[in-house]
Amino acid sequence: MKRRILMGTAIAFGLGLTTMSAMAEPPPLAQKERYKVGFSQMESNNPWRIAETKSFHDTAEACNWDLIATDAAGSAAKQVADVDSMIAQGIDVLFLPPREEKPLIPAVMKAQAAGIPTFLVDRSVDPNVAKAGEHYVSFLGSDFIDQGKRVAEWVIENFEGDKGIIVELEGTTGSSPANDRKSGFDDNILKDDRFEIVASQTGDFARDMGRQVMETLLQAHPDVNIVYAHNDEMAIGAIQALELAGRKPGEDVLVVSIDGTRDALQAIIDGKMGVTVESSPFFGPLACEIMGKYAAGESIPPWVKVEDRIFTKDNAADHIDEAY
Ligand code: AHR
Repeated sequence: MKRRILMGTAIAFGLGLTTMSAMAEPPPLAQKERYKVGFSQMESNNPWRIAETKSFHDTAEACNWDLIATDAAGSAAKQVADVDSMIAQGIDVLFLPPREEKPLIPAVMKAQAAGIPTFLVDRSVDPNVAKAGEHYVSFLGSDFIDQGKRVAEWVIENFEGDKGIIVELEGTTGSSPANDRKSGFDDNILKDDRFEIVASQTGDFARDMGRQVMETLLQAHPDVNIVYAHNDEMAIGAIQALELAGRKPGEDVLVVSIDGTRDALQAIIDGKMGVTVESSPFFGPLACEIMGKYAAGESIPPWVKVEDRIFTKDNAADHIDEAY
């Protein structure tokens, strides 16, 4: 498929702005020997983010990339500025995991205006404002709603008590995994009237904040017997808080989450956690493959979906050596 930016055509025919943006296409990518590739990481405060960045660095040589990788240190504003700087440095293509759904939309739009095709990796932006196949090429990532749903289904099947009192530790407010993992879990667990969510609060996907929030919530809800964390780091923080309060994770509290980190698999092996649904950070090879197809003129679906496994006591030991 020969790609063109239709905006120029629209201007030539004197069409209005609304029509122009409705006709937008992501910029094309020329076939080249080497590419200057931008990867704008949002933060590096947990093993998942570090593994994702490493995956891009590990892929760079094999894929003939001159990689420019940045770290926004947990600030959406800095992530937008990092993308600005990459555009100024003349990147050919941008891989962007947007920290939050709305604040990163300007970065997507600026890359498009600069003629740089963008692939969103692992997280997405607000689909009502920026769309795959128009403002960016595609979203490469997991189905976060399904991840939350799978955790809920596992809890429904494996919880042994009569009444499940749930505390939910949410991810970064305004991020696509926090929004989707919440709706995927809540919508499904609440279909079973044994379960009640008594508190749901952000721990910003961070271990320390997960621990602190759990400490506070435990005081308000000492009868909690299920903790659902939107990622493994917060689950591990919650386990620390529970143990400090004299509780016994795995015995009197069921802890469940998402990611598949080494610490979570170890916690499952140790009997402190019930399940973690995988969310892979290893996007480098997929990014290389999809970018190559795009440059070759192949049609790329709006969502290149990553399939996730599930880790429980039945298989955690088999996978811990490959975990991060
Ligand atoms: O976007 C994916 C989430 O972001 C991972 O689950 C989490 O650990 C990370 O920070």
